Amino acid sequence: MTILVTGAAGFIGSNFVLDWFEEYDEDIISLDKLTYAGNPENLKSLENNKNHIFVKGDIADEKLITSILNEYQPRAIINFAAESHVDRSINGPKDFIDTNIIGTYSLLEMTRIYWNNLGYKPKNIFRFLHVSTDEVYGSLENNEPPFSEMTPYAPSSPYSASKAASDHLVRAWHHTYGLPVVTTNCSNNYGPYHFPEKLIPLCILNALNGESLPIYGDGQQIRDWLYVKDHCTAIRLVLKNGALGGTYNIGGRNEKTNLDVVEILCSVLDELMPKKDGSKYSTQIIYVKDRPGHDKRYAIDATKLESELGWLPEETFESGIRKTVEWYLGHQDWVSRVQSGEYQNWINKQYQ
Ligand code: NAD
Ligand code: DAU
Repeated sequence: MTILVTGAAGFIGSNFVLDWFEEYDEDIISLDKLTYAGNPENLKSLENNKNHIFVKGDIADEKLITSILNEYQPRAIINFAAESHVDRSINGPKDFIDTNIIGTYSLLEMTRIYWNNLGYKPKNIFRFLHVSTDEVYGSLENNEPPFSEMTPYAPSSPYSASKAASDHLVRAWHHTYGLPVVTTNCSNNYGPYHFPEKLIPLCILNALNGESLPIYGDGQQIRDWLYVKDHCTAIRLVLKNGALGGTYNIGGRNEKTNLDVVEILCSVLDELMPKKDGSKYSTQIIYVKDRPGHDKRYAIDATKLESELGWLPEETFESGIRKTVEWYLGHQDWVSRVQSGEYQNWINKQYQ
């Protein structure tokens, strides 16, 4: 048996593939376009793994997708491939439309043709799992209940609008054509291999380099943080037992303001890598121009996943952030390779 994982060289995709091989020996075909966010080095430890094949390519390349599906006959597709950074979607939305909407459409359509031609048994077991985000629900006020699967969609950034569109396509391909899909909507992940344009890895690395820790606006926006390995466990469970056509919210019940997040990671760094001059890393915090249209609060109600499928996250924010900081301290080579080239152009443009 084989599964196809798209976006497999990105942050969550690579964690998922590595995590899969800790649990199973079922084959994986990893597909990734290797945009600035895709890093084949994340999967380097699988170089000699006979159960793993990496293919460089675009989910919008219908010829390539068809040939992969026909050659490897996967029993499931897990679609992580996306443009994922909100700030980049504000600076240039086109890639988000191309991959998140058109790319998802092409992948769905080629999958539908493949699935239609399968025999009775493989057709019955086949699943298309689409990985989406809590951002499709829009923004919450502090006194509102967390997002449930029944919360209406109200995306507010080009990124979240493109993800919402992809979720609608996935739903339509199930409703209209019967494609066996399941969708997950997850809160903010953090952990190993997180590309350092996002808040947590950016601040860990800036702190260690003696640079500023940029907080947008007043830092009182709230996100619900989930350790990436807990997300991977949830996806495996949903793939195995999720209801066809269903959606599952995944979140860590770890709501924190951005300022709290950065202060906590500073205090972990103070302990694990104290500064030579004795000062605290939190003195590097600065307040910068806010993100346009900045969503105030995301929070996930994961009751459905917990009660239907028995999932619970293993990490608290405190244990997960410690593991994350330790990972970055132990992977300086990965960090310096990631921080070269295109990455510097983005940082200069965004934070000048
Ligand atoms: P990421 O940006 O780190 O990785 C995305 C990967 O997709 C990269 O490897 C990139 O090269 C690849 N990719 C981009 N366009 C492609 C295309 N057209 N064809 C094939 N591959 C392509 O993103 P991530 O943080 O790992 O997120 C993975 C998925 O999870 C995304 O769909 C994202 O919307 C969703 N998600 C992320 C979070 C989070 O906190 N990071 C939370 C909820 C949902
Ligand atoms: O909620 C799930 C989403 O989480 C995913 O769908 C996205 O793919 C993922 O990128 C993430 O989006 P956010 O915009 O919440 O993550 P980011 O790390 O970019 O920002 C987290 C918060 O920190 C957000 O409120 C903006 C703020 N921030 C971010 C950066 C990069 C800062 O204050 N300063 C910064 O430099």
